Amino acid sequence: MTSTRIPLAGVIGSPIAHSRSPLLHAHWLRTYSIRGHYIPMDVDENDLERVLRTLPAMGFVGVNVTVPHKERVMAFADQITDRATLIGAANTLIFRNAGSIFADNTDGYGFIENLRSGAPNWCAEAGPALVLGAGGASRAVITALIDAGVPEVILSNRTRLRAERLREDFGHRIRVIDWVQAGSTVKEAALLVNTTSLGMTGQPELSVQLDGLHSGTVVTDLVYSPLQTNLLVAARNVGCVTVDGLGMLLFQAVPGFERWFGTRPEIDEATRAAALK
Ligand code: ATR
Repeated sequence: MTSTRIPLAGVIGSPIAHSRSPLLHAHWLRTYSIRGHYIPMDVDENDLERVLRTLPAMGFVGVNVTVPHKERVMAFADQITDRATLIGAANTLIFRNAGSIFADNTDGYGFIENLRSGAPNWCAEAGPALVLGAGGASRAVITALIDAGVPEVILSNRTRLRAERLREDFGHRIRVIDWVQAGSTVKEAALLVNTTSLGMTGQPELSVQLDGLHSGTVVTDLVYSPLQTNLLVAARNVGCVTVDGLGMLLFQAVPGFERWFGTRPEIDEATRAAALK
């Protein structure tokens, strides 16, 4: 008698209850009639290595990684993609033969695919991208923007030193400006990206005065709770094309699902609705 193992995947983080990934993957597993499971796992930092070493033997083909483990998992990977190395963090792990761990970061891919899907007329070569924030999400976004061919990234962060460190890691196509200069610099930008947590439910609003914002700038916010942030509403009021952050979450999940379950999932309105349940 032969038995076929049902592939298991999941997401590890702490806390994990808020993660929308289980809803999303369950939707795709149902949609494509795939026999598989995707399980949220609250994993303490001290247990991280033990969990990663145990999961493959339990039938896991890989996991997504979320806060606060994205940087730490890199230490346990046997192979790391260039983009994950540059970002310094991984969000997608693939378990290969004998439990070896392949680490990738698909956040930048998710960002750029979401942008292209929501603003099909946006063209990377059109002009500089003004990026607000210099944390982990910003690193993923900037990697993708440089890869896509933006002529320049203008980077503004409350803590300027953090932006300067990012520039050193990435090279010289990044111009760092003070946080207070962001509002007056936005007129130069073909794209404005908020990668900070400002505007998220429970966080302060983005306080940057975007007086120079004009309709030729595409505006996108990584915040997706609420979906329509004050930044996106203000941008639409001056005629900008805007792209909300939910799609980035959906698109970043595509490569992992495809590797683990063998089907490349589509992103449509039903996918968005499933992730918002
Ligand atoms: P993530 O991985 O989501 O990017 P992070 O690495 O903690 O999270 O980065 C959070 C970003 O939001 C940073 O750019 C942070 O600015 P600092 O580097 O100055 O901390 C920004 N941020 C968070 N709260 C902020 C606030 N009240 N005002 C301005 N920027 C803020």
